Amino acid sequence: MRITMIGSGYVGLVSGTCFADFGHDVICVDKDEAKIRALEEGKIPIFEPGLDAIVAQNRRSGRLTFTTDLSSGLTEADVVFIAVGTPSRRGDGHADLSYVYAAAREIALGVKGFTVVVTKSTVPVGTGDEIERIMRETNPEADIAVVSNPEFLREGAAIEDFRRPDRIVVGLSDERAREVMEEVYRPLYLNRSPLLFTTRRTSELIKYAGNAFLAMKITFINEMADLCESVGADVQEVARGIGLDNRIGSKFLHAGPGYGGSCFPKDTLALVKTAQDHGSPVRLIETTVAINDTRKRAMARKVIAAFGGDVRGKTIAILGLTFKPNTDDMRDSPAISIIQALRDAGAQVSAYDPEGIENARPMLEGVTFGTGPYDIAEGADALVIVTEWNAFRALDFRRLAGVMRTPLLVDLRNVYSRDEVAPYGFGYLGIGRPLEDDLGVLASPETRRAG
Ligand code: UDX
Repeated sequence: MRITMIGSGYVGLVSGTCFADFGHDVICVDKDEAKIRALEEGKIPIFEPGLDAIVAQNRRSGRLTFTTDLSSGLTEADVVFIAVGTPSRRGDGHADLSYVYAAAREIALGVKGFTVVVTKSTVPVGTGDEIERIMRETNPEADIAVVSNPEFLREGAAIEDFRRPDRIVVGLSDERAREVMEEVYRPLYLNRSPLLFTTRRTSELIKYAGNAFLAMKITFINEMADLCESVGADVQEVARGIGLDNRIGSKFLHAGPGYGGSCFPKDTLALVKTAQDHGSPVRLIETTVAINDTRKRAMARKVIAAFGGDVRGKTIAILGLTFKPNTDDMRDSPAISIIQALRDAGAQVSAYDPEGIENARPMLEGVTFGTGPYDIAEGADALVIVTEWNAFRALDFRRLAGVMRTPLLVDLRNVYSRDEVAPYGFGYLGIGRPLEDDLGVLASPETRRAG
């Protein structure tokens, strides 16, 4: 198959490269000349483990090329993927579709012969219909079928997710397009990855419903974590206890400082808006969005409370800035709100992240960036783990206790436990774990019962 991928951002670049790896001929297009030049020189503009090697290999084989000239990639294409950005529109939270529609117009003018046009970008329900209308209006002669094929890639695990997906969702009504899409995904099909064919509108909604459900699941366990702290229970045990029920499942039950990233915050908001527009509000998701927004600043209050409500003159060291590990992505990262709230309360903040500092710097004024955990801990009153990078999983607490002014660990990802750090003189605050006092209170009825 000859595939043209419009948009060489995260989704376009990963998908285009993996399609080339399947044996298809792929042209990746982007308007950003600097980005295309960099890609032609083998430089990858995003941090995604393993991507550089697959790009290099497929460029060498000639199956993967990059260009800024969209028209050159259209005449020969069997399939054109639209993978341009759909950011939240400023002001109203709706997805901004101007890049998608601009691409549709250009494609309509450039294609020759039967061409399948596929939206990979996350687009609200009904966008496929509008793309088709725009294309037919722009060029009534064009022989096209518009298909929805959402992506479910996680940053940091995108290649693995592409090669071994839980499912591939394809929304269409044209039989010829179905055959083309089966061919595009043939290697996965042969690998027994379920290929789910449905209508275009259903496919568009599946993407939003999936992300909203996962965001809700995380938010559920985060609320349980707060409740655990109040009643003296352990959220990790609760997550394990409910997750072993197959109907619930164990994934996405890790309590933390709230979800961030380029998808969950944007997509939940867009779903809320779409549902409101259709007079069918999704109240569970509206609440999820509100809880997650307030949670981030609440995490800062947890730190502040540990100092009796006053952090003026204190230095707080933040470990991890990106919205999750294995990415340099800072979009909607909880670290941003947490750090702002700490600085508003008068604390000095030092921070370190293995990959995110460059992106974080312009967002976090007044923060001192260090070269590693021990560097930022120097003279600090608390060390706060915001992102659970592997590099933070085996910290030398003896060394940390030696350099910190007050040895306190605030572990917003439950990487450690009180028992592990207490021998080094560390105070410990996790998420949804019983506080020491509560343990004392709970011990009495237990003891009584045992007796
Ligand atoms: C997500 C979806 O997983 C993916 O299918 C979709 O296509 C794009 O959005 P991504 O944003 O890369 O992927 O990250 P993901 O690993 O899903 O994590 C999202 C956020 O949820 C992160 O901030 C993460 O820290 C948080 N999270 C995740 C939790 O707090 N607890 C969990 O148990 C899981």
